[in-house]
Amino acid sequence: MSGWSQLQFELWDSDDPIPRQELLKKVKGCDGLLCVLTEKIDAEVLNAAGPNLKVLSTMSVGFDHLSLGELKKRGIRVGYTPEVLTDAVAELTIALLLATSRRLIEATHEAKTGGWGTWRTLWLCGYELADSTVGIFGLGRIGVAIAERLKPFKVKKFIYTDVAPRPELAAAIQAEYVSMDELARQSDFLAVCCALTPETQGICNKNLFSKMKNTSIFINTSRGGVVNQEDLYEALSTGQIAGAGLDVTVPEPLPTNHPLFTLKNCVILPHIASASYTTRNAMSALAANNLLAGLRGEPMPKELQL
Ligand code: GLV
Ligand code: GLV
Repeated sequence: MSGWSQLQFELWDSDDPIPRQELLKKVKGCDGLLCVLTEKIDAEVLNAAGPNLKVLSTMSVGFDHLSLGELKKRGIRVGYTPEVLTDAVAELTIALLLATSRRLIEATHEAKTGGWGTWRTLWLCGYELADSTVGIFGLGRIGVAIAERLKPFKVKKFIYTDVAPRPELAAAIQAEYVSMDELARQSDFLAVCCALTPETQGICNKNLFSKMKNTSIFINTSRGGVVNQEDLYEALSTGQIAGAGLDVTVPEPLPTNHPLFTLKNCVILPHIASASYTTRNAMSALAANNLLAGLRGEPMPKELQL
């Protein structure tokens, strides 16, 4: 490209998502598009953009909101933001895990609303990490970062499952590769860190929960779609598992009258795993750099291989 001084851009200058109709209108004729994960980038958007569109940059590590087949078909290059959010997501996952296992939300509620009558021996007891087995479903950078942070809590053993063993990543945390069934059976804490794909859609279901211990804690900071929420509700309400911490749900936002909100042993956060100032700044800078590199026809700092 020549004439950078003439690069024109249109900014949706709001923290709320751009309305769909607005996006379809504004994208027309664009060479590049930077989006966040609330925007479904599918054939409709790409058709509305027209043949000029060469580059899509998403400010997210997840890309389940993008129709990759449609992008590939049109030869559109795609940038995303892995790595810069790993620390923030791992930190939040630990916070959510502890909030769930030690029942922090329930406890502050009790303290505030008069439930704190006196010190009681078994009141608000939870489960501790010391001497536990932690299972990681989908071992990537985030899974490793979570395990590294959990180690000082004296976890006894890390196990993981994935489509195939990932020995290099696993070596850093001495994690043992096991089947999904074994992961369910052995884990005291099970953290889901996989991408949402057709293969992982709904994979955390009755079958998985029924094999878990009734003292185990389930944590999901990946995508809500990997969980069958009806099965999770059943597992939580019948005591099949001890608790669940979710940063992601289907849909988002989860309606306030959703049954999962009625459960004391379910901690639900509004998709905030990467929400630190440092990380959101790094994600937006990386997304902008991906976009500019793509427009220049240069290698992107982080390009998704389609
Ligand atoms: C957040 O969920 C992301 O994909 O970046
Ligand atoms: C995501 O960035 C992962 O590799 O886990």
